[in-house]
Amino acid sequence: MRVVKLDAPVSGGEIEGKIINQDIFEAARFLPKSFADLIVLDPPYNLLKNFHGHVFEGRDKDEYARYFRMILDAVLPALKACGTIYVCSDWKTSMHIAPVLEDRLCVRNRITWEREKGRGAKANWKNNTEDVWFCTKSKSDDYVFNLDAVKLKRKVIAPYRDTEGKPKDWDESEDGNYRLTHPSNIWTDITIPFWSMPENTDHPTQKPEKLIAKLVLASTPPGGFVFDPFLGSGTTGVVCKKLGRRFVGVEQNTEYCCWAMKRLILADVDPSIQGYADGVFWERNSLADQKNESPRKDSLAAQAQTDLSLF
Ligand SMILES: C[S@@+](CC[C@H](N)C(=O)[O-])C[C@H]1O[C@@H](n2cnc3c(N)ncnc32)[C@H](O)[C@@H]1O
Repeated sequence: MRVVKLDAPVSGGEIEGKIINQDIFEAARFLPKSFADLIVLDPPYNLLKNFHGHVFEGRDKDEYARYFRMILDAVLPALKACGTIYVCSDWKTSMHIAPVLEDRLCVRNRITWEREKGRGAKANWKNNTEDVWFCTKSKSDDYVFNLDAVKLKRKVIAPYRDTEGKPKDWDESEDGNYRLTHPSNIWTDITIPFWSMPENTDHPTQKPEKLIAKLVLASTPPGGFVFDPFLGSGTTGVVCKKLGRRFVGVEQNTEYCCWAMKRLILADVDPSIQGYADGVFWERNSLADQKNESPRKDSLAAQAQTDLSLF
């Protein structure tokens, strides 16, 4: 049984690969201590949101900060001393949670990613970004960061050559000229799941698999254990399965747990992550280039399409 409820303390082994269909404040009481290499924390932001019947109301900033402190109290005991926690938020929520994060953790960076979706505002700038706070439990250098696993493959705009005419820091191939670049804290290569993408569900705030894949690859060793206390449609679990990591997630909405379970089954058939191929992350809208380099993706996609029709 993949979807469970907890009513007694459990070991890491007992919850590995499981979706816990429960309120996080209840479930956290039974979770083991210090089992997680990484926590991906994507709680409701401070705004009105209807999670298919479970309505989250926006609140004043002190009240939200209090709620956020309660979340950290509940989930941080699960994190290893050398563990990492990423926290998702929008720019407004970021203002409330930043002081709490600074209080409790070592804040190492704030990633801002371009969220190419949403309505334009009439008397304001369109809100087109979200944040992911990068924090560790330890204040020392005792944490994992796999830089090479999260490099971005970019088309070379200025193809400089050395005195012998060889490419400087870029690769020349039949399919074009590319450079592997160091990942920065502004991400413009993320696509929000839209209706025609296999990863898309009806969840109102589903995160893209590519976004979570970067967090998991950067901050866990192969086989590492990832904990998502607000699993939603199951993105973190699916990504972990595709990338060879263990995971456990908690989600209060039973319908979302079912969607997550379906996605986990489909991940066996199609382990691809859109925008991540051949061990590198690609720029947005580069699918044609990726196909040139990785013809295997075509057969995988065709197989996934057949299996999807079974549902
Ligand atoms: C921002 S969404 C997470 C979306 C997720 N990252 C994804 O990719 O689908 C927050 C989720 O937390 C769930 N949630 C809210 N309060 C909760 C609680 N107290 N315990 C467990 N789940 C909760 C909501 O139902 C919602 O699915």
